[in-house]
Amino acid sequence: MDLGLRGKRAVVTGGSQGIGRCCALALAREGAQVCIAARTRETLDAVVAEISAAGGEGHAVAVDLTREEYCEVVVNEAVGAFGGVDVLVNNVGAARNADILDLDVAQISEALALKSYSYLRMAQLVIPLMRENGWGRIVNVAGGAGTSPTRGNIPTGAANAVILNMTRALSDAVSGDGILVNAVCPGLTNTPRARSQQKARADREGRDVEAVLKDLGAELPAGRMAEPEEIASVVTFLASEACSYVFGSSIYMDGGGRRGTP
Ligand SMILES: NC(=O)c1ccc[n+]([C@@H]2O[C@H](COP(=O)([O-])OP(=O)(O)OC[C@H]3O[C@@H](n4cnc5c(N)ncnc54)[C@H](OP(=O)(O)O)[C@@H]3O)[C@@H](O)[C@H]2O)c1
Repeated sequence: MDLGLRGKRAVVTGGSQGIGRCCALALAREGAQVCIAARTRETLDAVVAEISAAGGEGHAVAVDLTREEYCEVVVNEAVGAFGGVDVLVNNVGAARNADILDLDVAQISEALALKSYSYLRMAQLVIPLMRENGWGRIVNVAGGAGTSPTRGNIPTGAANAVILNMTRALSDAVSGDGILVNAVCPGLTNTPRARSQQKARADREGRDVEAVLKDLGAELPAGRMAEPEEIASVVTFLASEACSYVFGSSIYMDGGGRRGTP
């Protein structure tokens, strides 16, 4: 299927590793120019090199997206490099979780600042550019914790709940301009973040982190965790011309593991 992404200009936040990296590579393979943003220059440059090696065009911006002013820097850089923005993949996220009985409210504020506020600000900045062309796609990478909270993941869950809420509201605000806004909700996915999150447990149990992840995956109806490429393939469809009648939706990609009602 031709996704119609050739010549489109995309921005992927948190595009240097994990799900964001796979989204950036998948969009580039479909012929989009891709601007990625994260904090670490080395990993960003490595992804741009991968995009170039595959015959694509990438651009990297090293910024901390907990700071609102850097959202504008990312969009300005993307416009400088490619002349506009047609696709936004809001993906950045890195909450410090703790048990709800020990949680410091600052941990919730930090999670919201990075994941929810940057998603909203990035959308507000690219929407005028998309409106000029009467076409745009915004894909928000939320997460199952937005509707399936546990006592140990309230910061992540709060940020994801805001994103699900905002996805619907943004969709209502801009679908009439040809801009489709949707969310994906990954479950446990094989990324550096998943490994670092399970490291403490692995250490506590004297086990290898890969073994812990494998056991967690085995508890799911799918029998395994997701690979980041699997999440990226759905993000890429939602970012494409081929996606023409999915509005304000949240697609669960959790191997059947959800507890909440989407
Ligand atoms: N993996 C899972 O099991 C899972 C499940 C559900 C939802 N998700 C969601 O999927 C998204 C991607 O997760 P992932 O597992 O791929 O994460 P990851 O492997 O940790 O990658 C996170 C990306 O965000 C960047 N980043 C982190 N903090 C940043 C900051 N303050 N400013 C700018 N960039 C920052 C990281 O690069 P730098 O560190 O260099 O900045 C990296 O590029 C997140 O929103 C996450 O909540 C993941």
